[in-house]
Amino acid sequence: MTFVILFHIISRRRWVRFGNTMSAEQLEQYNRRAEQAEEEIRQLHSTLQKLLSGSANSNDTDSEEVARLRAENQKLRYRVGILRRATEEEQAKSGGAHSKTGSTAMAGGAQCLFVALSELFSAAIRAAFPDMDEVATAVNSNSRFGDYQCNAALPIVKRLKDKGVKMSPRDVAQKIIDCVPSSPLVERLEVAGAGFINVFVNKTFAAEQLRLMIVGGVPAPTVPRRRVVIDYSSPNIAKEMHVGHLRSTIIGDSIARLLDFLGHDVLRINHLGDWGTQFGMLIAHLADKFPNFRTETPPITDLQAFYKESKKRFDEDEAFKKRAYDCVVRLQSYEEDIIKAWKLICAVSEREFEKIYERLNVHGLVPRGESFYQSRMQGVVQQLTEAGFLEEDDGRKIMFAPGCDLPLTVVKSDGGFTYDTSDMAALRQRIQEERADWLIYVVDAGQGAHLQSVFACARRAGWLDGGVRCDHVGFGVVLGEDKKKFKTRSGDTVRLVDLLDEGVRRAQEKLREKGRDQELTADELREAQENVAYGCIKYADLSHNRNHEYVFSFDKMLDDRGNTAAYLLYALTRIRSISRRAQLTPEQLLEAARAGTAIQLLHEKEWKLARVLLRFPEVVVRVTEDLFIHSLCDYLYELSTTFTEFYDNCYCVEKDRQTGEVVNVNMSRMLLCEATAQVMTRCFDILGIKTVQKM
Ligand code: ARG
Repeated sequence: MTFVILFHIISRRRWVRFGNTMSAEQLEQYNRRAEQAEEEIRQLHSTLQKLLSGSANSNDTDSEEVARLRAENQKLRYRVGILRRATEEEQAKSGGAHSKTGSTAMAGGAQCLFVALSELFSAAIRAAFPDMDEVATAVNSNSRFGDYQCNAALPIVKRLKDKGVKMSPRDVAQKIIDCVPSSPLVERLEVAGAGFINVFVNKTFAAEQLRLMIVGGVPAPTVPRRRVVIDYSSPNIAKEMHVGHLRSTIIGDSIARLLDFLGHDVLRINHLGDWGTQFGMLIAHLADKFPNFRTETPPITDLQAFYKESKKRFDEDEAFKKRAYDCVVRLQSYEEDIIKAWKLICAVSEREFEKIYERLNVHGLVPRGESFYQSRMQGVVQQLTEAGFLEEDDGRKIMFAPGCDLPLTVVKSDGGFTYDTSDMAALRQRIQEERADWLIYVVDAGQGAHLQSVFACARRAGWLDGGVRCDHVGFGVVLGEDKKKFKTRSGDTVRLVDLLDEGVRRAQEKLREKGRDQELTADELREAQENVAYGCIKYADLSHNRNHEYVFSFDKMLDDRGNTAAYLLYALTRIRSISRRAQLTPEQLLEAARAGTAIQLLHEKEWKLARVLLRFPEVVVRVTEDLFIHSLCDYLYELSTTFTEFYDNCYCVEKDRQTGEVVNVNMSRMLLCEATAQVMTRCFDILGIKTVQKM
């Protein structure tokens, strides 16, 4: 009887076709059939189990029957695997719609191994233990024994025990293994220790993934697309950007790049501090110093000095102070001339910021300061008042929310608005007008309480309903080499421009020390010193856990040993030079991969490198969960050291010792070099670090 069902199911699978684009209905139908088939497997499995439990004292024909059923079961699972993949590939092609299981396949390209394996195990656990929904089925790659490991058995044992069923972890693990759909990804599975399942990845499959990676580019794992608004950098007009803003700029930009890579719809907002009482004195000073400002653009070059001058007058001159206050009132009532003066000051500042962004390779940041929300704040206050959320407190209007320790001050006692009010208005604008479903704020940890209150009050107001994700990406302070707050010798805050200049100077020194000025052209040298300097500054920041403070040290970040950009950029140029030595152009390598040149993973170090390369999508997915970019840096460093191990052990290019002529090129290994270079380049790109051709 079982046999009949089996044939029936298998023969029905004939309609699996690749390459044809299906309609939505067809997709649906495919999905349904795959589910049906899985259900049939489940039933089959329980038949099998019954037979097995009775087979202890059964005769030979029974065990033959069991063996045959097992084999059939295996085949059937393989078919279901193909069916699922075909469906998902079609879905990816038809515009990235996502399957219920989360897509594992990239359109005709490489797969995210981690997701694909996790799905195999969740299918297996569903089949083996149908009512164990909430058990985490994700595999992990820090297995010491297999390539991946699934640790779901122990929690399942616990659940079973709660239900009064006794089963050993090893038996649970075996039962899961029996239900793992057969898959080209998996070489073999084994139960180890206290019920861990070690997964050995199929090398042919892995090699093919690497080849596809070279042909089609490093794959981004498919994730549901979100509309993200990310608020970062956000310095204050007329004030110098300080290292805190540098951190926000570097971290924020990297997260934005990561989300872009994953295909999200990302809006980068520069929440400039461009409104407030400090503008009164600036405008009053401007009007005194450049009375023709309405018709002639004032030649302000040093806004910092301008700020200091006006502050001095403000503190010393009563009449000036009065005028400054008067200007604030006129600014807030949008008086034309005053607005003009305000705009002039903002423009000077923004030009300065722009220079820094240009040097740091930060693009696409939309300037949208606090002033933008002025008109919207009124509406927010009205809504919160009508909903009865505001409480009187000493003339102020404040708002509490569950889970926030500090109330927000929404209206001051003089009727004015605050930083809290503008952040509430900005949050609502981002959700309602920008249609964001994910808000990220890259702001120093010192503002954590403020942002938590903003999120909590927004939640209370119902603005976050419908699954809006809010993240405060906080970060610690930057310390000087004396482990104290980063300051100049004279105790002033360090100006970013000076910091970047010094970085370039130091990088230049380093390159000269190594005699690179003799080998590189003037252009190459300039490119190298700039990219190394900015790359090192960024990497030093990004490679530390952002919640920790870190010591800013040029000596450390420019050291070309250890986990620094200097080391990693150098490692990449070395890999690139291997193909140059083999006299292969990038096009030739691509052609070789296209033509199907096999990548052999026979040597232990080749396999080790391949596994690290294939972990890239998994690392990227994890980073989007916790927004800790340093994990990506750790990965990049691991990739680079693993590559060195491979290169030290495996010949790629052999040259004749006497003539220096290339006598043998191992194409498979050249492709491994190429895949490594591509993944490293992709990492640098996400980190916002420009690579160099030579250094
Ligand atoms: N301008 C602020 C500062 O320098 C940072 C603004 C951060 N963003 C925000 N939406 N509050 O501290």
